[in-house]
Amino acid sequence: MEHHHLSGADELLELKQGFEKIILEIGFGNGENTAFLAAENPNALVVASEVYLSGIGSLLNSIAQNSLNNIKIYDDDVRELLLKLPNEIFDEIYIICPDPWPKARHHKRRLIKHDFLKVLANVLRQEGTVYISTDWENYAESIEEEAEKSKESFLLKKISNEGMPITRFQQRAKNEGRSIHTFLLTVLKK
Ligand SMILES: C[S@@+](CC[C@H](N)C(=O)[O-])C[C@H]1O[C@@H](n2cnc3c(N)ncnc32)[C@H](O)[C@@H]1O
Repeated sequence: MEHHHLSGADELLELKQGFEKIILEIGFGNGENTAFLAAENPNALVVASEVYLSGIGSLLNSIAQNSLNNIKIYDDDVRELLLKLPNEIFDEIYIICPDPWPKARHHKRRLIKHDFLKVLANVLRQEGTVYISTDWENYAESIEEEAEKSKESFLLKKISNEGMPITRFQQRAKNEGRSIHTFLLTVLKK
């Protein structure tokens, strides 16, 4: 199973030569969306980042069941990996249900902040995209605010999540009657 793990930035730079496209998913949970992306894009390498061990186990199971050979799992804080990479590596980045930190005093812990969007803009190639989906109304509003602060780097569009798999956290939100807000941020010409 070891070969499904990504050791770090150096290995990614080596692997990148063999693929047409590189996709990054941040916080894949149980990996429903990761497995979908890998199957839909057989010519792409999907770098999948998660620290939650049982989620990593679930993704390893679907890799085995579906004979997927284009996923590499990074099992540490994605921010550390991103800071070690040169610019313009990824074509697409996916972040589905980032931790909501619903209490106002914890909002500062949210991942989608102006500074982090800047890091994402750096590692994306020309016209690369960030797909972000949240099931918290208040987080959706703050994504719009943070994207407004990053408008020199990204164009933000609200889109539908139709055609994408429903992840565990999205299913929970639906069961609890919350709606899903999805955004696509496209890197403006560099
Ligand atoms: C609310 S869950 C969503 C999981 C999944 N995307 C879904 O929709 O079911 C957020 C996940 O992001 C992961 N996560 C949070 N910060 C992270 C980081 N800095 N690097 C990697 N994973 C992170 C957490 O471990 C958690 O499993």
